Amino acid sequence: MKINFNLNGSDVELEISPEQTLLSLLRDKLGLFGAKQGCDVGECGTCSVLINDELRKSCLMLAVQVEGCRVVTIEGVSSPQGEPNDLQQAFLDHGSVQCGFCTPGMVLAGEAILKETLTPTRTQIREGIAGNLCRCTGYQQIVDAIEDTAQQRRTAVEEK
Ligand code: FES
Ligand code: FES
Repeated sequence: MKINFNLNGSDVELEISPEQTLLSLLRDKLGLFGAKQGCDVGECGTCSVLINDELRKSCLMLAVQVEGCRVVTIEGVSSPQGEPNDLQQAFLDHGSVQCGFCTPGMVLAGEAILKETLTPTRTQIREGIAGNLCRCTGYQQIVDAIEDTAQQRRTAVEEK
């Protein structure tokens, strides 16, 4: 069967099998390896993507469910030249990346929070990343990076 959706800013039409997961479509068919296959049962968040600006676990979704949707993977967050965006840079600056396995999902969780509000409390940030597990950083640095980016984006809006 065919599906049509927007992937990282480009409209795509793809032939899929009805039982294919979104994670499998991204990794196995499209070669987008930023979404990781961790637990494969919805518990770790390493497979996270944004669907219509909301954080979703691609291992739990069928590819067919994104018909007509806007899908953003970590590959769609950085600049076309591959430069980190402001949130990715904040992760680097705050030491929020160690092994990096959780990082694509964490960055997308951060983006989902920042699309909701540029004034998130630390509690809201913790709630926003609650479905994403990190074995390495202890979360503090990740919360710091998202909070810092919210501040930067607020300042950018105020200066316009
Ligand atoms: S691989 Fe999807 S939540 Fe763990
Ligand atoms: S940086 Fe290693 S799991 Fe998060």
